[in-house]
Amino acid sequence: MVRHLLKVTDFTKEECLKIIDKSIDIKANIDAHTSDLKDKTLLMLFEKPSLRTRVSFEVGMTQLGGHAIFYSIKDSPLGKKENIEDTAGCLSRYCDIIMARVFKKEDLQNLSTHSTIPVINALDDFAHPCQILGDFQTIKEKKGDLNPRKMSYFGDCHNNVTYDLMRMCAMLGWEMSVACPEGAEYEPEQTILDEVAKLSEGTGAKISVTHDAQEAAKDSDVIYTDSWMSYGIPEDEEKKRVEIFNPYQVTTELLNLAKPDVIFMNCLPAKRGYEQTAEVIDGDKSIVFDEAENRLHIQKAIMLFLLDKL
Ligand code: CP
Ligand code: NVA
Repeated sequence: MVRHLLKVTDFTKEECLKIIDKSIDIKANIDAHTSDLKDKTLLMLFEKPSLRTRVSFEVGMTQLGGHAIFYSIKDSPLGKKENIEDTAGCLSRYCDIIMARVFKKEDLQNLSTHSTIPVINALDDFAHPCQILGDFQTIKEKKGDLNPRKMSYFGDCHNNVTYDLMRMCAMLGWEMSVACPEGAEYEPEQTILDEVAKLSEGTGAKISVTHDAQEAAKDSDVIYTDSWMSYGIPEDEEKKRVEIFNPYQVTTELLNLAKPDVIFMNCLPAKRGYEQTAEVIDGDKSIVFDEAENRLHIQKAIMLFLLDKL
C-alpha cells in the first residue's frame, strides 16, 4: 500500500529514527547515493512561498540522480479548475512522488487519498513533518542521542511547526512546554492537544501549554521559535501580533534560564527583533544553519523511505 507523509506521526517512532539515521549516513556519504533515485521524478506543488523546502527538495532529487519539477498552483489553485481527484490521478500517471505545500490540510488529505504515488506534506496549516525530522536529526547530532529531554517553544503556538514538534516530542517521550499569549488564535487547537495527549499515553511525554515564558524556559535542552507572521497571515495584522507576541521573544535572558548547553532553533525564515533577538540567533547557542542544512539530507532519506529504497 502506498504510504504518505502528512504529519510526522504518519511514521512510527522506529521509522522516524531509521530515516534520521539514514539522513546522517547520506550526509556523510553524499557521493554514494548519486543513482539512488535515477529516472525518478518528484513533482513539487506550491501554493505558498518557500526558500529552504523548495531548494532542498530540488537539490536533493538532483543529487540522488532524479529530477524535480516545480509547479506553482498560485494561478491554478488545487480543486478550482478541476477537482483534486483528477489532479492526483494525472500526476500519479506521470511522476513517482509528489510533495505539496498548501494552505489547507483538507486539500492535502484529498490529494493523498486519490494519489497512487506517495505524497509528502511540505507545510500546510497543520504540520511540517520534513522540518521536524530534519530538526531531530540536528538535535541528535548536537546532543548525541534522542533520549527524552526538555524542549520549550515560544510565540505563535496556533502553528503548523509547533503542532508537529508537539507530536514528535509526544512520540519520543519528551517534555515540551509551549509558551504563548492567551487567545484561541495563539494557542494550540483542542484537537491537537487531544491528539498529543493520546500520543503521550505510555511514552512518558509531558506536553503542556503555558503563558509564562520564564517558567517554560527553565531547564530546557532545546529552545525553539518560529515566525510571528506565518505565510498567509495578512500584513495588516503584523503590528498587533508584534505587540502580543513580544513577551515571548527569545532573548539572552530567556536562554540563561535554560540548561547551560541549551541549543537555539528556528526553522526559518526568521526576523531579528521579532521572535528572537539578533544576539540569540547570531549567538553561539544558535544552530539554525545546521538545522537548515539538514533539510537537504532529510528530504533525501524521506523520499528513499517512501519509494521503498531505504
Ligand atoms: N523552514 C522552511 O520550511 O522554510 P521555507 O519556508 O523557506 O521552505
Ligand atoms: N509557521 C511558518 C513555518 C514556515 C516554514 C509558516 O507557516 O509560515
